[in-house]
Amino acid sequence: MFDPIDLAFFADAILDEVVSGEPKIDGTILLDLARQANGPILELGCGYGRITIPLAQRGVQDLTGVELSASSLAHARTRTGNLPIRWVEADVRDFHLDRRYPFIFARGDVFNFMLTRRDQEAMLARVQEHLTADGKFLVDTLPRRPASMVDDPEDVAWYTVTHPNGRQIYTAGRGWFDHIRQWYIQRAHEHWDSADGELVRPPWTLTLRYVMPQEMEALLHYNGFKIVAQYSDYQGDPITPEEPHYIYLCEKR
Ligand SMILES: C[S@@+](CC[C@H](N)C(=O)[O-])C[C@H]1O[C@@H](n2cnc3c(N)ncnc32)[C@H](O)[C@@H]1O
Repeated sequence: MFDPIDLAFFADAILDEVVSGEPKIDGTILLDLARQANGPILELGCGYGRITIPLAQRGVQDLTGVELSASSLAHARTRTGNLPIRWVEADVRDFHLDRRYPFIFARGDVFNFMLTRRDQEAMLARVQEHLTADGKFLVDTLPRRPASMVDDPEDVAWYTVTHPNGRQIYTAGRGWFDHIRQWYIQRAHEHWDSADGELVRPPWTLTLRYVMPQEMEALLHYNGFKIVAQYSDYQGDPITPEEPHYIYLCEKR
């Protein structure tokens, strides 16, 4: 058994989409890799299908999305229609499908939800289990640069978004670090229409484990992967010390 993951933020898929955006593929590398795969494709932590759905709409066939949040999958299903997508409600640390895939991806910091090495290795083991011998695995992480790793002493305004009902949502919160466990913990509250309006939902907490680049390389290595390319964004731009988003394209080693 694994420790539960606090997915309070993802329990309301409509709000998740309000913040994360409508389904669209940003950049070209995912679409290129999906088209080159020439076989079924597996997305881990697919959420409400923000990426899966547009991939299918662009002609990518035979997609499977694994996701733990039932609300996210229910929202995804409302948009699926006849698209060739199979949605599976499961934990990326503990699932077994009876197929192998030439392309598996985990996009949108899903790996950072793995809070312990046991979680990380369980997820990587599931990838090993489901990836074909010459398949490709793409995973991204949000490593933190030391200069940016500063606790917020108090709540600060984060963002304002418009709900589909037309009302504004003001979000404020604070983030702080547990440097022993390498956790970045965020606690946020959202108010309708103004910073002191009624609460949209109970305040939520999101805990992500930050992963440093060389740590990630070692984890991938010791779990049977080699990195064949690294990007700083989904256009395929190279990594730089300034670019915080790291995308790893891997194969079995
Ligand atoms: C930031 S969202 C990214 C969603 C999607 N990949 C995207 O790019 O829009 C992270 C997703 O990972 C899911 N997730 C986190 N831990 C998970 C787990 N152990 N098993 C399955 N899904 C998980 C969350 O529910 C959430 O939908």
